[in-house]
Amino acid sequence: MTQAYQKYLKEVLIDEATLQHRIIELGTQISADYANSTTLLLVCILKGGVMFLTDLARHITVPHEIDFVAASSYGSGNRETSGHVRINHDVTANIKDRDVLVVEDIIDSGYTLRFVMDTLLARHPKSLRLCALLDKASRRVVPIRVDYTGFEIENKFVFGYGLDLDEKFRNLPFIGVADEEALKDDA
Ligand code: IMP
Ligand code: MG
Repeated sequence: MTQAYQKYLKEVLIDEATLQHRIIELGTQISADYANSTTLLLVCILKGGVMFLTDLARHITVPHEIDFVAASSYGSGNRETSGHVRINHDVTANIKDRDVLVVEDIIDSGYTLRFVMDTLLARHPKSLRLCALLDKASRRVVPIRVDYTGFEIENKFVFGYGLDLDEKFRNLPFIGVADEEALKDDA
């Protein structure tokens, strides 16, 4: 049966097994690095980071809490970043003196993460690090230190595994490259 996403899928960039294998490696590394932490808080950036967070957390053996931030830098239907970032939902936890690890789906220009990291840093966590599943490093406009990276990828618009195409297809278990022609047809 043909599924709706197939029209937009140019190619699978990272298949499910490869994603899951890398997430186990990241979880193992994070578990070792935070082995002595008693205050670990994973802060997931909504909505895109949610699939990654839930899989990653299952491989983190250190006791921890999870929390969420929703931020947006893209206007609806616009695939270029605006540089204007807004926090639509803030964390509920008090992060002062805690080990905070931000979990994000993808870093593109860096505007979103820069804003979120600066906002969190101002609240004096004990430590603040960043774990991003995907990094389009060649697109960076503002500097961001990424402590844990799943995969560095080329400058292609991708979707699936938390990342959306106009809010859809976040549920796919793999990362796909969007077909520019199919996107234009829809515009
Ligand atoms: P930045 O502020 O330019 O770094 O953009 C980061 C945000 O843009 C991510 O959290 C995603 O929501 C979105 N984004 C950037 N590149 C892609 C992509 O290729 N597919 C889907 N969303 C993307
Ligand atoms: Mg996002």
